[in-house]
Amino acid sequence: MVEEPADNPYVRDPKTSFAPADELDEATAREQVAQLREAISYHDYRYYVENDPVIADSAYDTLFERLQTLEDAFDLHDENSPTQRVGGEPLDELETVEHVQPLLSLQSSGDAEEIRAFDRRIRETVGDVDYSAEPKFDGFSIEVVYEGGAFERAVTRGDGRAGEDVSANVRTIGSVPLRLPDDAPETLAVRGEVYMPRTGFQELNERRVERGDDPFANPRNAAAGTVRMLDPDTVADRPLDVFFYDIIDTSAALDSQREAFDLLRTLGFRVNDETTIVDDVDAVLDYRDRLMAARDDLEYEIDGVVAKVVEFDAREQLGSTARHPRWAFAYKFPPRTGQTTVERIVVQVGRTGKLTPVALLDPVDVQGVTISRATLHNAGQARELGVTPGATVEIERAGDVIPEVVEVVDAGEGEAFEMPDACPVCDSEVVREGEHHYCTNASCPAQLQRSLEHFCSRDAMDIEGLGAEAADQLVAAGLVESPADLYSLDREDLIELEGWGERSAENLLAELDASKDVTLGTFVYALGIRHVGTERARALAGAFSLDDLLDASADELQSVEDVGPEVAEAVVSYFDVDANVEMVERLLDAGVTPERRERGAELDGLTLVFTGSVPGYTRSELTERLETHGANVTSSVSGETDFLVVGENPGTRKREQAEEEEVETLDPDAFEERILSQL
Ligand code: IVH
Repeated sequence: MVEEPADNPYVRDPKTSFAPADELDEATAREQVAQLREAISYHDYRYYVENDPVIADSAYDTLFERLQTLEDAFDLHDENSPTQRVGGEPLDELETVEHVQPLLSLQSSGDAEEIRAFDRRIRETVGDVDYSAEPKFDGFSIEVVYEGGAFERAVTRGDGRAGEDVSANVRTIGSVPLRLPDDAPETLAVRGEVYMPRTGFQELNERRVERGDDPFANPRNAAAGTVRMLDPDTVADRPLDVFFYDIIDTSAALDSQREAFDLLRTLGFRVNDETTIVDDVDAVLDYRDRLMAARDDLEYEIDGVVAKVVEFDAREQLGSTARHPRWAFAYKFPPRTGQTTVERIVVQVGRTGKLTPVALLDPVDVQGVTISRATLHNAGQARELGVTPGATVEIERAGDVIPEVVEVVDAGEGEAFEMPDACPVCDSEVVREGEHHYCTNASCPAQLQRSLEHFCSRDAMDIEGLGAEAADQLVAAGLVESPADLYSLDREDLIELEGWGERSAENLLAELDASKDVTLGTFVYALGIRHVGTERARALAGAFSLDDLLDASADELQSVEDVGPEVAEAVVSYFDVDANVEMVERLLDAGVTPERRERGAELDGLTLVFTGSVPGYTRSELTERLETHGANVTSSVSGETDFLVVGENPGTRKREQAEEEEVETLDPDAFEERILSQL
């Protein structure tokens, strides 16, 4: 644990009103800059590493802005100033740099016998040993070098001998120290794993899909792709974090992995809490079983555990091969991949008309989940991988992501995939935009079915009973040609449909009626405008009335946070289509009343976090409702959180954090009573 800087006025209860920069002399400015950097580094450590901030976010922001102002006014820029975490100039390319020591990899296996054999070899050579038992993080390995206590560079593993310099990107990761405490060793090179936390990964993918970009297949690819980007500004916006697990080189004298972890911790590096020391191989096996069972509850992906001999003199005796040390072993979990054959490749048409090739598979069990389809994303990917009917493919399921074909193991007999020239659903012309293909017919039944499904989904109009199947039926029966037609459906139409009875017809009509009372943000989201997801829709509804939104220019739209040229263009072109405006008018005529909620102040200053679901509400509905009344809904528990609402199927992590931070928890009833009833 890093010691709190003594006598620094910006650490505890910092004064956050400052004299104008031009009233300062240079010496005072320099002194203030040094104190601010020291304090902000400490705050970064408390926030990102300890998860236990000592000041409010707003106070932190004020200190940060003050530092930026002084650095600009007195030209006191420094690569390792905390202000550099926000990004920087884009690079032309990443330079290749040699590692201070070759970065070796690990011997690994998923077979318990292999790790027992590893343990026997060790005991034959050096006698009994303790093992450091650590998660094997499924991320992206980096080396970070410090000189004289200052961050010098961060380098990817590359070929093990040399890698790429990714310093500008790694500096943006809040938990990576830019300056070490004064008593840090003169030279230090550490190794760690950069990863993308699961929730951040899912949010990033949602945003990508909203924008029309392909989602990342898994958090590891997302982390690897992000660390190697050329634009640090984009990296700074991505949720990356890091765990450190090795000291590669140091001027400090160290005798064991225990001491290495202690040193890492005292210098402020983020070390994983599951890391522990055990005294024999059986305990390593138990550790592996425990972590494998907990795997899905962790905020990061792991693909096994690592056992390392603790004592360094034993390590020295054991030595290394050219590729890996003889004193460490990765005991891997069974992969979440499986092999099967492709029966055929079909093309799916999405809500925006995008055509996606999907491989239909001979069903295969992948760690308890039956997989019978896998996406190929686009025609280019299908061809590059060489997926054809009859091919044996390896598929991977990672987290909540749609399974993906990772590689072709055995080529099939079938023909190489070609995107059809005509839409498989309506036969209209298909055009190519970048890597993707689109159906050009705005009233393509497939697009219509998907837009109906979207319109009725929980985060949109929340019309239960209108999922994919019902949408297909309504379109096929010619009852619905636009979401607006839903509101003129009658009982007789519905009971005629196969599988429908009076009950289901009446339920749907009641749902439709109830959906008419809707917030403007939800309504805008329900329209299904490209790139406009729940958050952007809410932001647009906060800035415009429905009438104004219909007429807004691209420039006006861009005044809204997180609305750039591409999104603005999508909104303008949506409302340029007469049929869309007509649909909105028909919805209003049918009695749908999108209501613009005025921001209330009942919950001003209240910060809430949710885990699990609150019966009767979607998360986005609750967020919108609470935020329109001034509350702040955040995704992780900190000292700033007032309440953690624990709904059904809650996660363990947020609850543990709440306990640590002494944050009060509310069950759904208490939440209704204490919070919702005030609105
Ligand atoms: S130790 C010489 N510890 O797994 C020791 N590696 O080849 C080298 N990894 O590239 C690595 N978690 O990126 C170590 N707790 C952990 C690890 C870990 C993940 C990665 C590392 C390496 C790969 C194995």
